[in-house]
Amino acid sequence: MTGKFDIGGRAKARCDLLGVSPYSEVEGQLTRRFLTPAHDAALQALTQWMTAAGMTVRRDAAGSLVGRYEGETPGAPALMIGSHIDSVRNGGRYDGPLGIMLGIDLVEALRDAGRRLPFAIEVIAFGDEEGSRFAASMSCSRAIAGTLDPAAVLDMRDADGVTLAQAFSAFGLDPASITDAARKPSDVIAFLEAHIEQGPVLEAEGLALGVVTAIAAQKRLMVRINGMAGHAGTTPMNLRKDPGPAAAECILALERICQAGTDNLVGTVGRMTALPGAFNVIPGAVEYSMDIRAETSATRDAAVEAVTAEIQTIAARRGLTATVGLMQALDESPCDTGLTTLLEEAVGDLGLPPRRLPSGAGHDAMVMATLCPTAMLFIRCEGGISHNPAESVTEADCALAARAMLGFVDKLSDQFLLSSRTSAQREDPGPTPELGASGGPGSPLRFGRDDNS
Ligand code: GLV
Ligand code: MN
Ligand code: MN
Repeated sequence: MTGKFDIGGRAKARCDLLGVSPYSEVEGQLTRRFLTPAHDAALQALTQWMTAAGMTVRRDAAGSLVGRYEGETPGAPALMIGSHIDSVRNGGRYDGPLGIMLGIDLVEALRDAGRRLPFAIEVIAFGDEEGSRFAASMSCSRAIAGTLDPAAVLDMRDADGVTLAQAFSAFGLDPASITDAARKPSDVIAFLEAHIEQGPVLEAEGLALGVVTAIAAQKRLMVRINGMAGHAGTTPMNLRKDPGPAAAECILALERICQAGTDNLVGTVGRMTALPGAFNVIPGAVEYSMDIRAETSATRDAAVEAVTAEIQTIAARRGLTATVGLMQALDESPCDTGLTTLLEEAVGDLGLPPRRLPSGAGHDAMVMATLCPTAMLFIRCEGGISHNPAESVTEADCALAARAMLGFVDKLSDQFLLSSRTSAQREDPGPTPELGASGGPGSPLRFGRDDNS
């Protein structure tokens, strides 16, 4: 069943449509940051598409858009399907939106076939996976999972000095109520996210699809090295307290530590500012961001510790001071083993070899894993290029992803009905205690979520 429309092609075309103004803040490129007019415009377009697919649509208290397609029984717990609608600055069109469009298509295909499932489906567009406006990321999924601490994020400022609280208000949301977006585990069966791979593995192996095993741990840090501002022409080199060369040395230390690391340890300085910022002024301070990731939180943390020690040593040797502030920590997040097997089977049913692979990129699924079991489908992208306007996918691969997702949903329904029958036969009337965060207390499903996430 693939519906009455071109299921892969339309999803890709819709991502392309949202790749330009007014869905981008900047003419000639795609920049769609959290709580901007471009974000609002994209949610309006998604609302129309979700409604046309047969969903009731709402914006939640933290800026996610949620479309709901009821199951056989109204009010049943939901399988959530989706991804993020925000982008990095000058990003690609498919990182995030493709997973939402494929979710909408899946619902529309079910509606066209006159099908209702034993659970509801909710298609979700998170607004802040990238953290490209404020230092923290994944605010929307964290609000839904109930792990967002408003006190820790609402005072963060964007590059224009606007606080997150002010941005929520300007978007028509009450910053005091964002935790109302939290969902009960009993309302959510599972979360499925389809996403471009953002790496070269699938393409290198000639594979259209991959199934994610786990998402890497990450930390975001801000470093500030303090020196003394001075005149660039009159201060001799040996009498300066210049944080610029110190920052360069510290960044080389980060590179060295990560190159020597294991568990796919990576470190990135993506943003750097010299203050006050002028040709003819020795900076008084340099600030830069560090993004450090590894397959395990322990490896990531050891690297953060080593880099922080190096920064202090380098600053002290140069007569400077340095601070390293933690902006956000997300631990590694294994996908649910039972759901991953179902997704793998759905991929195999298409005649494709089921390839398992880890994700170095962060995804809302890693946050949703604190609420419910998760599964992730990767779609091949050209050259593995992402966070770049050159990001590209094929319609054929999108169509395969759509079919795999439909197959997954069918398998999940079968398992759901089977589990319901088994528990009915056992005359087991109530919630199953172990299901707390795994299948949802209202759900008869049991999944194999590792509990170390
Ligand atoms: C998002 O793409 C991230 O991995 O940070
Ligand atoms: Mn991204
Ligand atoms: Mn993404």
